[in-house]
Amino acid sequence: MHVESDILRRTGGRAIAEVTFDAASIATRVNELGEEITHHYRDGELLVLGLLKGSFIFMSDLVRAIMRPHQVDFLVASSYGSGTTSSGTVQLVYDPETTLTGRHILLVEDIVDSGRTLNRLVRLLEQRRPRTLEICALLHKHLAPGLALEPRFVGFDAPPQFLVGYGLDHAEDFRHLPFVASLAPGEQPTE
Ligand code: IMP
Ligand code: MG
Repeated sequence: MHVESDILRRTGGRAIAEVTFDAASIATRVNELGEEITHHYRDGELLVLGLLKGSFIFMSDLVRAIMRPHQVDFLVASSYGSGTTSSGTVQLVYDPETTLTGRHILLVEDIVDSGRTLNRLVRLLEQRRPRTLEICALLHKHLAPGLALEPRFVGFDAPPQFLVGYGLDHAEDFRHLPFVASLAPGEQPTE
């Protein structure tokens, strides 16, 4: 439960329309995801790869819920403006130092919206010849037709709204909120 004053203190008075997923619901679901992932990977080396920055809080909770040995690394992909074409290739600003070849790769993403980011990354990561490649997304808006790889592990189906908190930002703000919320109409991003 989040009392209004607690939310306003955290956001510096800026309006949150609604708490979409509260901290307790997220914690429960992340633990379930950890169990699903633990049971899915029965053998082999597992590398959990978080896509920064949005996945940083989700990653830290998720890896602590995976009850088998694994390694952790991050990716930073270059962001493109709205003029991007889906045929473009993504560039990695930070590339994991460990090899991906022959290992189970679990790519961790905060939210799947248009799917453009993931489609590019999947193509790039497949070129590194992992043993398997799967996606774990905290939130999935289910707006994207024909994803290159449908996320195998999904925390919650998300409403088609702009969401912030638990790692998700609006202009780099709100990442620190312990819950996921929709922005009030006046705070909505314009794209
Ligand atoms: P996509 O390429 O359109 O699927 O968007 C992927 C990235 O855009 C996500 O990893 C987020 O960083 C960002 N994004 C998409 N939707 C939202 C949202 O509702 N809130 C905050 N960030 C979002
Ligand atoms: Mg973002």
